Amino acid sequence: MGLSRNRSGEDYLEGMLSDLVGAKGKPKPQKKSPTRFVTFLTCLQFAFAVYATLLLYSMSPTVDIRTKPDFSWAQRIAQQVKQLMVVPPNGGSPYQESGISAVSHFTTADVCENEKIDFEQKKSDDAKMIKLKTELYQEVLDFQSKSFGTETLPQLMAMKSRWDLKNGLNNPNALPKVTVILNHFKRKTLCAQLESLLNQTLPFHHVWVIAFGSPNELSLKRIVDSYNDSRISFISSTYDFKYYGRFQMALQTEADLVYVLDDDMIPGRKMLQILSHVAGTEKYKNSVLGSIGRILPFRQKDLTFPSYRKFRSKEAGLYLPDPAYDILVNKIVQVDFLSSSWFLSAELVKTLFIETPLTFMTGEDLHLSYQLQKYRNAGSFVLPVDPNDKETWGDSEHRLAYVSETTVIFKGIVQVRDDQWWKALSTGYITQWAAMNPQKIDAFFYAHSLEEVKVLAPLLNKFRSTFGKKAYIAVSGGSFCPCEDAAVALNWPKSVCTERRFKIFDLAVGAGSSGVSDSEVPVVQGVYSSMKGLIKMHDPSVLIAVSDIDPHVLKALRMASETTANGSTLVLLPRPSVEKVLWMADLRSTALPYWNKMRISINIITQTRAKSLLRLLKSLTDAYYVGDEVPITFNMDSRVDEDTIKAVNSFAWPHGPKILKRRIIQGGLIRAVSESWYPSSDDDYGLLLEDDIEVSPYYYLWVKYALLAYHYDPQVSLPELSSISLYTPRLVEVVKERPKWNATEFFKKTPNTPYLHQLPCSWGAVFFPKHWKEFYVYMNMRFTENAKENPVQIPKSRTNGWQASWKKFLIDMMYLRGYVSLYPNFPEQASFSTNHMEPGAHISAKDNVLKHDKSDFEVPLLKEDFRNFLPGGKLPSASKLPSLNLFNRPVSLKGLKAAGAKLRQDVLECEATETVMVDHNTGLPSRCAEF
Ligand SMILES: *[C@@H]1O[C@H](CO)[C@@H](O)[C@H](O)[C@H]1NC(C)=O
Ligand SMILES: *[C@@H]1O[C@H](CO)[C@@H](O)[C@H](O)[C@H]1NC(C)=O
Ligand SMILES: *[C@@H]1O[C@H](CO)[C@@H](O)[C@H](O)[C@H]1NC(C)=O
Ligand SMILES: *[C@@H]1O[C@H](CO)[C@@H](O)[C@H](O)[C@H]1NC(C)=O
Repeated sequence: MGLSRNRSGEDYLEGMLSDLVGAKGKPKPQKKSPTRFVTFLTCLQFAFAVYATLLLYSMSPTVDIRTKPDFSWAQRIAQQVKQLMVVPPNGGSPYQESGISAVSHFTTADVCENEKIDFEQKKSDDAKMIKLKTELYQEVLDFQSKSFGTETLPQLMAMKSRWDLKNGLNNPNALPKVTVILNHFKRKTLCAQLESLLNQTLPFHHVWVIAFGSPNELSLKRIVDSYNDSRISFISSTYDFKYYGRFQMALQTEADLVYVLDDDMIPGRKMLQILSHVAGTEKYKNSVLGSIGRILPFRQKDLTFPSYRKFRSKEAGLYLPDPAYDILVNKIVQVDFLSSSWFLSAELVKTLFIETPLTFMTGEDLHLSYQLQKYRNAGSFVLPVDPNDKETWGDSEHRLAYVSETTVIFKGIVQVRDDQWWKALSTGYITQWAAMNPQKIDAFFYAHSLEEVKVLAPLLNKFRSTFGKKAYIAVSGGSFCPCEDAAVALNWPKSVCTERRFKIFDLAVGAGSSGVSDSEVPVVQGVYSSMKGLIKMHDPSVLIAVSDIDPHVLKALRMASETTANGSTLVLLPRPSVEKVLWMADLRSTALPYWNKMRISINIITQTRAKSLLRLLKSLTDAYYVGDEVPITFNMDSRVDEDTIKAVNSFAWPHGPKILKRRIIQGGLIRAVSESWYPSSDDDYGLLLEDDIEVSPYYYLWVKYALLAYHYDPQVSLPELSSISLYTPRLVEVVKERPKWNATEFFKKTPNTPYLHQLPCSWGAVFFPKHWKEFYVYMNMRFTENAKENPVQIPKSRTNGWQASWKKFLIDMMYLRGYVSLYPNFPEQASFSTNHMEPGAHISAKDNVLKHDKSDFEVPLLKEDFRNFLPGGKLPSASKLPSLNLFNRPVSLKGLKAAGAKLRQDVLECEATETVMVDHNTGLPSRCAEF
């Protein structure tokens, strides 16, 4: 019902003018247009009076246009009046049958009215504003010409196009069918528009003149009739379908292209030709083209986004062109939305209706561009003009300028449009600002339900409270997860849902789901399209959600995470794990993308200790794996007993595949352990465990955290690190008499610091693939049963006398090449693994004469989150890790290498200043290199 006819074009000009006169500038009251139109019937006049009343009512600034005002009373009156006056006996047009038919036919000259245009373009003389606007425009142009290239009009016309007028001259099939849709309400511009359209260099296919709830319906119809052109049709309705209505009509055209024009646009004579040509090029075929556009607000210094109508500020964006500031468009320019005219392929029109707009009252312009980009990857462009050739102008008559003086802008409209553009940006619309200012954040969270918000809250808040870290959350919104409830669950003020600042994004995918449709399609499409845009904009290192998220949503997130050039790593956390991985926020953003990269397998060596084995398996089962798949392999020697086989067979491993390996010929401990695992890739890590070991529930988290912090982080270089121990020893194994050693006491200046140690651990350690391959080659070259034949003699080391053992050869290699293992160090030597020292191949071995005191080996298992013990609550940076040599003396990593090289006993003959370098693929020694 003619509610707030806030033309986008008017909006555009009003903005311009208001910028000129400042915020105080009040638009002049609406002028009465000169009327030489004869009124026919009194009842018609009355009907118009009703319309006018409605119009006035609706124009009142107090009307909240988001709620549909109740006009049914007025509609009823109007209908009754119409019934009185309209008696269509033969189903013809009511108006022709009433009074009007007295005159049989009108000529165009009879019915056409033209608005006098005596408007002079206002120019700004505000130097600051001119500078600001032109600089911003230049910035936009520079960015666009660098990123995807912009063309002048001659360049565009020189591009190869499917719709080239030259080809069409001989072959009419090579010409596009263009349906032009004109929307009229009260303005007297229809004749001028039709004249211009009839005179186009490229003929149109159809013109549809639409009048929804127009008080001028009668005169508009007479104008159309007067042209007596079968291609020009008149469509009217007493119901006002608003600005969306014309696009609804456009859905039904059989034309190739649709040109939707506001009533204030009189296109230049070459407009259809130019538009079709550009729309036929490969580059712009998937675009919407126009003559006037808007670049939406830029972020302010305080990180908020201003209103799109903020006056006198650069942040409020740009109108293009903006004659007030002498901003002309001479190269095609991408904008956030178009005003007053839209030219697009008929096929793209339906995109406008994917999401229900906030309101049907206004904003179809922004909604169209937003939906096209979000769902079709289609951009919105303002075409350049030739300033000296009016025929290339989208509005040859400059009626726009005239209009502006008669426009009233309502406060409510500004609010709605502000809400609308912010909604678009925060649900994945990549505005020009976003394209020009790529963001980089650490983590993006997605929660589909309120429960998920609550579960993710500790990690999100840990990220946000960690210095230098940026993290946001997107929620499904609507009935699925109301934004304000989510804010409360996060302990944030509810206002975060409305303030124009990045923090929480309400995707509103649950908005329309009042049980109307159970289909997953709108949800998948909504989540995918929104998250795709948000991820492109913010480029998070990781995208985090709970692992039991709705499978359809998961698909959407997976697709969305793959959209950026390098992709964002999708991290799916089981709910109980979220609180256990708060250390994630302490990883560098360069390490985060490797979250899913490593594959750690468990390799158990077992034979005859079924009871011990069951204890180990229980502890392994109960540990936290943050949803990672962890394969488990059982390595059984040929003398494996019945109980062990039964235990292994009946064991169900919930965290990944289970693999059984059994020897035919007894291999002994040396083969059992060393051959229990061989890496299948550079991201394949082996945890080797004998069956009398037991692990802490946190062991896997320790390994994962350490791998990410010291191995995967590209900013860290620690190539000497070859394994991660779960266990803290209490003895110095390699020294005669095996003196006690107290790591807590030793590192008391930096309590609980993990440390690097030249000793590999055989009671629970994860070995790195490259070093393990290297070890295979080394052992193969050096293996001898007789200790005396071993060419490596580490000065003062008890290991020289050890019988052949896999660990002895690994110690030799690590010593010669200066490798280290990472060890935990917590009070009481509490560890991620312990050794119960039960009789087996190792302890009862006849040659192992030393008595073992259980308390020297059995350490407490860590039962609580180790993060709280670490210095500063996190793993120290790699350069701060203390390093010890084989004999528990502090020696730098370089010092360790020097000591090894000095022996000159490695498999290659190197200088005392060189170590052996190894081909990491094969493990074969390749050359000597200075360290
Ligand atoms: C149609 O185009 C011709 C050629 O440019 C021009 O002379 C004429 O004035 C135009 N007519 C209208 C009604 O615009
Ligand atoms: C309208 O056009 C048709 C076909 O071109 C013609 O027969 C008819 O006389 C025209 N009507 C008027 C009123 O000019
Ligand atoms: C993608 O990764 C490469 C190499 O890791 C890097 O140089 C490039 O900048 C990354 N691209 C983006 C868009 O992050
Ligand atoms: C190890 O040292 C710490 C700190 O000095 C001390 O509290 C603890 O009792 C020591 N442990 C042993 C077994 O001596």
